[in-house]
Amino acid sequence: MKHIIVTIPLIVMIGIYISSFRHNKAMNFTQIATGLGYPVQEYYVVTQDGYILKLFHIPGDRSKPILLMHGIIDSADTFIIRGKTSLSVGLADAGYDVWLGNSRGNRYSRRHLSLDPNIDKEFWDFSFHELGYYDLPAMIDFILDETGVKSLSAVGHSQGNTIFLVLGATRPEYNDKIKVMVSLSPVCYLSNINNAVLYLMNFIPAIDQFYRLIGEEEFLGDDTALIRLYRNICGSKKSYGVCANGIMFSLAGSDPDGMEPDFFPTVVKHYPTGTSKKNVIHVSQIGLRRSFAKFDYGCKNIEVYNSSKPPEYDLGKVSMKVVLLVGRNDEISRLEDVRLLESKLPNVVNSTILKHEKFNHIDAVWGRNMSVYLFPYIFDILSKYG
Ligand SMILES: *[C@@H]1O[C@H](CO)[C@@H](O)[C@H](O)[C@H]1NC(C)=O
Ligand SMILES: *[C@@H]1O[C@H](CO)[C@@H](O)[C@H](O)[C@H]1NC(C)=O
Ligand SMILES: *[C@@H]1O[C@H](CO)[C@@H](O)[C@H](O)[C@H]1NC(C)=O
Ligand SMILES: *[C@@H]1O[C@H](CO)[C@@H](O)[C@H](O)[C@H]1NC(C)=O
Repeated sequence: MKHIIVTIPLIVMIGIYISSFRHNKAMNFTQIATGLGYPVQEYYVVTQDGYILKLFHIPGDRSKPILLMHGIIDSADTFIIRGKTSLSVGLADAGYDVWLGNSRGNRYSRRHLSLDPNIDKEFWDFSFHELGYYDLPAMIDFILDETGVKSLSAVGHSQGNTIFLVLGATRPEYNDKIKVMVSLSPVCYLSNINNAVLYLMNFIPAIDQFYRLIGEEEFLGDDTALIRLYRNICGSKKSYGVCANGIMFSLAGSDPDGMEPDFFPTVVKHYPTGTSKKNVIHVSQIGLRRSFAKFDYGCKNIEVYNSSKPPEYDLGKVSMKVVLLVGRNDEISRLEDVRLLESKLPNVVNSTILKHEKFNHIDAVWGRNMSVYLFPYIFDILSKYG
């Protein structure tokens, strides 16, 4: 009897371990784009604080550079995994010089001049604040230098938009380097999120405690045990019911027509792909504190900010042109929160609720029909302001 009690968990563990080698590795951005007939150049950009970021480039008209920034725990892959109907391909076909950034900590930007992400906890001491304050300036200046123009257009999805707000608020001189920032599923205020997301946010402090216990600072990275397990369970068409319907749709909004079972395993291969625990905590603070403010260190705020509360980001300083595009079925970027953001920003040139009733948070990057429901708006706006 004792033997069985010991052996069964052992066999299960060995099974999980072996199966984690079984799934084939995802293709990288360059391989996917090249396979579609779009040659890619890869660059490294070093931030002021030593992070080494990967920038992908699909060359086009150098006078029209555009930078695409992914959302939380995501990567540049998000703008190519839909193949021919992906945004990066659509923009390349339209002649734009397409650049794709990768924020620190994801699968392409897990490098630093002196810190080792596998050993040094300091590597993971960042949130979306640093993605906006350090990563964006490094990438923007690099692109402007390479192309020789004074400003570029930008598209951000979800947190890929938040970081431009941080940039505009904390380094106002960068506002002039952005012609227009097209914000897909904008995330800033998170005061009206749905129950599933709120539940998750309330759970974050417990996750934090657990991570402290096991000494982890990286969150949902490709090589973590949790993500290996997730890729094994959710990486097949058969688990669509549990993983897409059960998890993804309840968090992001449901549109089964936009996310068919054949495509879901591709998403699972590429998403999620790592960020810091601190980033996730900061996002949950925005929701729970109902304020778009810097990281809340609790009793250490006085030391860090000379104030008992973290200072709010001054959205009045974000003078770049901003376009807000949101779907009414988005469970994360709720219309009420987007309206509040619109009221705080001084230069929103267009704010549009997409016509497609089911359009949700993830349709903007992975939706099967986004080239019909969304891209015409983006192209129209870029031709006006880009
Ligand atoms: C992508 O894969 C190709 C082919 O294996 C390799 O040459 C390239 O360095 C990879 N790029 C990245 C960013 O992983
Ligand atoms: C800290 O805040 C107080 C009160 O707001 C202010 O008087 C003081 O000058 C500040 N100190 C520093 C170092 O900024
Ligand atoms: C979405 O795209 C698929 C595949 O291209 C197509 O069959 C379907 O009719 C489209 N749905 C809508 C509502 O446009
Ligand atoms: C916003 O942009 C869309 C797409 O270009 C356009 O159809 C709409 O008329 C614009 N709205 C305003 C108020 O300019």
